[in-house]
Amino acid sequence: MKNQEDKFKKVISHAKEYGYVFQSSEIYDGLSAVYDYAQNGVELKNNIREYWWKAMVQMNENIVGLDSAIFMHPTTWKASGHVDAFNDPLIDNKDSKKRYRADVLIEDYAEKLNLKAKKEIAKAVKRFGDAFNENEFITTNPRVLKYLSKRDEVLKRMGESLENEDLVEVKNLIEELEIACPVSGSKNWTDVKQFNLMFGTKLGASADSAMDLYLRPETAQGIFVNFANVQKTGRMKIPFGIAQTGKAFRNEIVARQFIFRMREFEQMEMQFFVRPGEELKWYEHWKEKRLNWHLSLGLGKENYRFHDHDKLAHYANAAADIEFDFPFGFKELEGIHSRTDFDLKAHEEHSGKKLQFFDHEMNKSYVPYVIETSIGLDRMFLSVFSTALQNEVLEDGSERIVLKLPAVLAPTKAAVLPLVKKDGLPEIARTIINDLKFDFNVSYDEKDAIGRRYRRQDAVGTPFCITVDHETKNDDTVTIRHRDTMQQERVKISDLKSIILKEVSLSNWLHKI
Ligand code: GAP
Repeated sequence: MKNQEDKFKKVISHAKEYGYVFQSSEIYDGLSAVYDYAQNGVELKNNIREYWWKAMVQMNENIVGLDSAIFMHPTTWKASGHVDAFNDPLIDNKDSKKRYRADVLIEDYAEKLNLKAKKEIAKAVKRFGDAFNENEFITTNPRVLKYLSKRDEVLKRMGESLENEDLVEVKNLIEELEIACPVSGSKNWTDVKQFNLMFGTKLGASADSAMDLYLRPETAQGIFVNFANVQKTGRMKIPFGIAQTGKAFRNEIVARQFIFRMREFEQMEMQFFVRPGEELKWYEHWKEKRLNWHLSLGLGKENYRFHDHDKLAHYANAAADIEFDFPFGFKELEGIHSRTDFDLKAHEEHSGKKLQFFDHEMNKSYVPYVIETSIGLDRMFLSVFSTALQNEVLEDGSERIVLKLPAVLAPTKAAVLPLVKKDGLPEIARTIINDLKFDFNVSYDEKDAIGRRYRRQDAVGTPFCITVDHETKNDDTVTIRHRDTMQQERVKISDLKSIILKEVSLSNWLHKI
C-alpha cells in the first residue's frame, strides 16, 4: 500500500514538473478536482483522442462522428433518467464533518478483505515455492475462504440495498461492519441520503424567463437525440455507430485520486445501433474490440481485466468495465454497456418524435438496441502516464527516470541537440528541425551537457534524441538515440524522417489493433 501511495505521489509530481498536468487556478490555491493540461499534457491528450477517433471513425466504415453541444434541452435529462436517478448515496461523519460516498466506504472495506486474502496467498507462495497450487489453496484454505466469502457477502448486501433504494439498510451495513471515518476515526454517522450529480445553470437574461439547464453529465445523450438526423442524412443502415468526444461534468463528492475522478472531464463515447435481439452478440464484439485497442498500445496485458457489473444500471441488460491497474489498484477505465432500447424509447416518449429505423430486409420499423463503449479520456491519460513512468537502474548503478510513452502518443517525437553551442552546430540543428517540423513535433535543446539533455528528454518521454556533432559537418550524419534502449546509431540526416515515422506513425499503430 505504501509503495502504491509513493508511486502515485511520484506520478502527480512528475506530471507537474514536466508540464503535463497542473491544478486548475493554482495561483488561487486551486479548485478541487479540476485540472489543467499543460504544454505536454495537451499534446498527449490530443494524441490519445486522435488514436481513439481514428480507430473508431476512420477504421469502421459504419461509424461516423458527431460534435453535439454541451447545453441540451432540459427534457433530455428527464428522459434519460438523470434528473431522477443520477444520484450518489452520501453519508457524513458527524465528528470530522467529512462527506463520503456510502458505497465507496463499503467497497473500500471489501477491498481490505481482498488484500488480506492476497497476503495469505503471498505467504503461502513463499512457504511452498514451486509446489504451490494457487487454485487449490484459494478453494481450501479456511482463512482465505473466510475473507473472500465475507467480501462477496458484503458486496452482495450493498448491491441489493442500493438496487432496492434501501438507504437505511446501507447505513446498517456501515454500522455493522464498524466502518470508521478515515479522518476522525469515529463511527458517528448521519443517515445515508441521495445526492444528484448534475451541475445546474441558467439560460437567458432575466430571472423569471431564464430556463434551467444542466451541464451534460455524459456525451451519450447528444448522440441519442441526433440518432434520426445522422441516420437519415448519412443514409446509415443498421448496424451503425455514432462516436463523439467531449467534456462532461459531474458534481463528484468523493473527488480524489488526481485526474481519475474529476468534476470536469472528457469522455470518448460510441453508441452502436443494432437489431433488437442481436445486442448481446454485438456486446461481446465490442468488449473484444475495445480490449484489443488498449492492448495495441503495449502497456502490458496483465494491467487489464474485465469486471462484469453485478448491479446493472436502469437502462442496461449487460455491462462490463475494462479495469486498469492504476497506481492505486484495479479501477474502471472504460465501460461497455448493452443499453437496450431504453434511451431512444425514452426520447420518443418525451419528444413525441419517432426514433426508429425501417429495416428493408425485415420489412419493418423498430427502435434499435444500443451497445455503448464509454471511456474517460483523462483516465486513459492517467493509465498511460502512470505505467510509462519508470525508475530504471542502469548497468553502471546509476538511475534514470524515463517516461516510456507509446511513441505514437508522445507529445514530442524528437529533440534535436547540437553537441556544443558553436562551430555552426546549432545552425545545422535548426535546419533539421525546420525540415522535420512539417511531420512531427520536434524540440531544440542546447543547454547543459549532452548526458543531462538526454535525461531531460527521457523524463519528458521523447522517443528520439538527434545529436549534431562535428562529424555532421563532414558527412551529413547525426546520432539518433532511442529513449527505451538508450542505443545510439549513426544515420544520414536524409533518413531521419523515415526512421522516426516507422515508430510513431499512426497508421503503423492502427495496424496492430
Ligand atoms: N454514457 C455512459 C457513462 O457515462 P460512466 O461509467 O458513468 O458511463 C464512463 O462513465 C467513463 O467516463 C468511465 O469509465 C470513466 O472512464 C469516465 N468517467 C466517469 N466519471 C468520471 C469522472 N468523474 N472523472 C473522470 N472520468 C470519469
